[in-house]
Amino acid sequence: MLKRFKAFLSFLREQSDYLEKTVTLDDKTYHFREVFPKDIKALMHVQQLVYKEYQPWHRGAFLSELYSIHIHRYLCVSVHKKIIAFIGIRVVGSDAHITNIAVIPTYQNKGLGKQLLAEAEMFARQHGCQTMSLEVRISNSGAQRLYTTFGYTTRQVLTEYYSEGNEDALDMVKQLK
Ligand SMILES: CC(C)(COP(=O)(O)OP(=O)(O)OC[C@H]1O[C@@H](n2cnc3c(N)ncnc32)[C@H](O)[C@@H]1OP(=O)(O)O)[C@@H](O)C(=O)NCCC(=O)NCCS
Repeated sequence: MLKRFKAFLSFLREQSDYLEKTVTLDDKTYHFREVFPKDIKALMHVQQLVYKEYQPWHRGAFLSELYSIHIHRYLCVSVHKKIIAFIGIRVVGSDAHITNIAVIPTYQNKGLGKQLLAEAEMFARQHGCQTMSLEVRISNSGAQRLYTTFGYTTRQVLTEYYSEGNEDALDMVKQLK
């Protein structure tokens, strides 16, 4: 019975309203599509390549986001069917929060982060959000630069926000007009 229920949930979850697309950046083609629970292993592999030993999210965190009652969108980018990047967005009230974003090191600085942020913003606008927000490590100046060029500004510093290393976070926000 539980197995059937799980299969039903999985069937429901794999009905995507995101229109898959291919994007070409510097002559390379990337495939953008929605994330499904069957992709979690691949997303964890992306995290491993990005963060080495430290895993910001374990399987349970991905699962609870993918089955969240909040409006959400998880997108991944693949090259030859291999997932190389992903982003997560969760809508709460009038804010769309970027929950996670990662691009594997060999594909960084090629414009994928920008493309993923643009997809997130489109989703936020479709849902009538007034703001977008995210947290970023205070030491992560590369990501902060990207968010700043994308129109995010620092709202506050969250002291010792990350349990890993007790590092502070910048709470960044973008107003959508
Ligand atoms: C942060 C992160 C998601 C950004 O993704 P990315 O794909 O590297 O970002 P982009 O390529 O879109 O933009 C980054 C830089 O590349 C530049 N760029 C954009 N398009 C480019 C292109 N076609 N060719 C070369 N460079 C390009 C951007 O101008 C930007 O330059 P900057 O150094 O002036 O900021 C990615 O680096 C990452 O996963 N980092 C590790 C995990 C992490 O920090 N996650 C964020 C936690 S909050």
